[in-house]
Amino acid sequence: MSATTAHPPAPETAPGPPATAEGAARPRVLSGIQPTSDSYHLGNYLGAVRNWQILQADYQPFFFIADQHAITVDWDPKLLRERTLRSVAQLLAAGVDPEKSAIFVQSHVPAHAQLAWVLNGITGFGEARRMTQFKDKSAKEGEGAASVGLFTYPVLMAADILLYRPHYVPVGEDQRQHLELTRDLAQRFNHRFKKTFRVPEPYILRATSKIYDLQEPTRKMSKSSSSPSGIIEMLDDPKVTAKKIRSAVTDSDGEIRYDPDEKPGVSNLLSLLSALGGESIADLEEQYAGKGYGQLKGDLAEVVTNYVTPYRDRTLELLDDQTYLLQVMAEGAGQAGPIAEATLRDVYQRIGFVAPGTPAR
Ligand code: TYM
Repeated sequence: MSATTAHPPAPETAPGPPATAEGAARPRVLSGIQPTSDSYHLGNYLGAVRNWQILQADYQPFFFIADQHAITVDWDPKLLRERTLRSVAQLLAAGVDPEKSAIFVQSHVPAHAQLAWVLNGITGFGEARRMTQFKDKSAKEGEGAASVGLFTYPVLMAADILLYRPHYVPVGEDQRQHLELTRDLAQRFNHRFKKTFRVPEPYILRATSKIYDLQEPTRKMSKSSSSPSGIIEMLDDPKVTAKKIRSAVTDSDGEIRYDPDEKPGVSNLLSLLSALGGESIADLEEQYAGKGYGQLKGDLAEVVTNYVTPYRDRTLELLDDQTYLLQVMAEGAGQAGPIAEATLRDVYQRIGFVAPGTPAR
């Protein structure tokens, strides 16, 4: 079985056709990813990055590395620098194209932090406290040990999004609650001041919105909580990845059938094979009727290897050319910056900040 480029399954909420009329602006998409590990994992890739690559053809795309979000938990400056470069290299290796997409680093566009401060002023403490990601992350070490940055993280995320007035935000399921907060804040601001922000729609593809851990298939694959054997790192040696797939947790009934409640491990393997190989789950169930888990795992390992090998090679090649990576980031910030600044100017004016050097209105 060889890897083919899968067509994206229908999104849960169809975004509708892009405005393709001659001369009409294409709808905007925007998304971000944190540079908090040496490699993206297969969940990041299937839940987000692959969709970015697909969407850039028909939309006006903005994709960024969320380095400011990465300092809301403990971090090492040297690693953060390296991982930011690795993140850009991986986006490029995944086919996100700087000719089509603005690819930039969050801290290169100061308007993100500036708008976040304004939004902090219209976000309720209780509303921020309800964010489950904060609850989960802070529960690990106790709320007292969590940073204020972690608490206000979703507000910065709302600022990231609202600055660009995007139509859609392609993310995985774990970001849905943050998008709901973003929509609430946009509506609140528009209502209280003047219509300033577009209320963005999440773009979450059901089939790949939550990829599960190979060892604990009821939990999402996660860079912060998966064990090394539960996570498929895109830049791992493909032999290591194949071994992890062969050791994935399944069940003892031996039947290859998609049933996430009763058979989470096998269902996750089927989802991955379908997402990467392009065949529907129903077709796979038919093909694998009467076959064993070993066969399914072997085939998946092969498909994943075919997928990650060129990705890995290209990333390593790009990492040797830091000048190019820095140039991509600078060009991306050059495209994103003026758009973000224009929105911020509108916001400042509407909330009553006096513009420097001009009479107050
Ligand atoms: P981050 O860096 O944790 O993850 C990047 C993207 O990967 C998706 N993802 C998954 N999708 C499917 N299955 C999984 N197991 C899985 N794990 C992660 C995430 O949903 C995400 O889309 N807060 C964001 C970064 C961010 C952002 C933004 C995103 C900052 N500002 C503005 C969109 C818009 C985050 O931490 O993603």
